[in-house]
Amino acid sequence: MTAGGRVAIRTRALTKVFRGFRAVDAVDLEVREGSVHALVGPNGAGKTTLFNLLTGFLAPTSGTITVFGEDVTGLPPERVARRGVARSFQITSLFDTLTSREHVELALQGHSRQGFRFWRSEKLLGRPRARVDDLLTQVGLMPLADKPAGLLAYGQKRALELALVLALDPPVMLLDEPTAGMGIEDVDRTIELVRRLAAGRTVVFVDHNMHVVGSLADRVTVLQQGRILAEGGYDEVRNDDRVITAYLGEADHA
Ligand SMILES: Nc1ncnc2c1ncn2[C@@H]1O[C@H](COP(=O)(O)OP(=O)(O)OP(=O)(O)O)[C@@H](O)[C@H]1O
Ligand SMILES: [Mg+2]
Repeated sequence: MTAGGRVAIRTRALTKVFRGFRAVDAVDLEVREGSVHALVGPNGAGKTTLFNLLTGFLAPTSGTITVFGEDVTGLPPERVARRGVARSFQITSLFDTLTSREHVELALQGHSRQGFRFWRSEKLLGRPRARVDDLLTQVGLMPLADKPAGLLAYGQKRALELALVLALDPPVMLLDEPTAGMGIEDVDRTIELVRRLAAGRTVVFVDHNMHVVGSLADRVTVLQQGRILAEGGYDEVRNDDRVITAYLGEADHA
């Protein structure tokens, strides 16, 4: 984490109301450039909704969002992406009949169309085939490159989603539950991958697996019922009584 660096993402009183229900409620979030920032909290806390707001997939009811100091509040996803913010989805958004390789090829093409060009790295400009192989290798999918996505296991689909975000090579990467549904080996490989990705960029991720959060996060924000309940380093947050109660409360209802 770069101490004293710029702020990559800042929200002020960010709020999203769904038919009277405050899914995200007056959230002031600050993500430092170069940090790995975890967003945790019980089911329904508002984590995915917050991601949707940060990436322009939802417009806020009120409040503001800035990316590297520029106001992006209410901009559509492609314009937010142009400021360098790209995300993966919690719910897999793959095409069943396309192979992993075809997905990555499409992502690499789409990315020049969407105007990512001016901040993408030089290495992306040539050798697309090598780039596709590299991305598939990084997420461990080379052996399955030509298998239709519909036939992949859930954890493998998550890995492919990660490759698609990586193809965009964004300065700010938002990952919604990158390890959900993965076995322990894939979880550990994904931790290593995210750690490598984090060099030279800002990563915000949601994960319910505290091993993943503890391994990766410089900073942790805990959401509960749309509000920030606690924030700090992993150990600080993990020992916070309010956080323990929030999670125990969830277990009671499970
Ligand atoms: N489009 C929508 N319309 C109405 N309510 C919604 C909508 N999207 C989310 N919600 C509600 O907002 C709340 C927050 O949902 P959200 O998906 O952001 O939670 P989450 O923290 O990501 O949960 P999980 O850990 O289960 O993924 C939930 O009560 C959900 O039902
Ligand atoms: Mg979610």
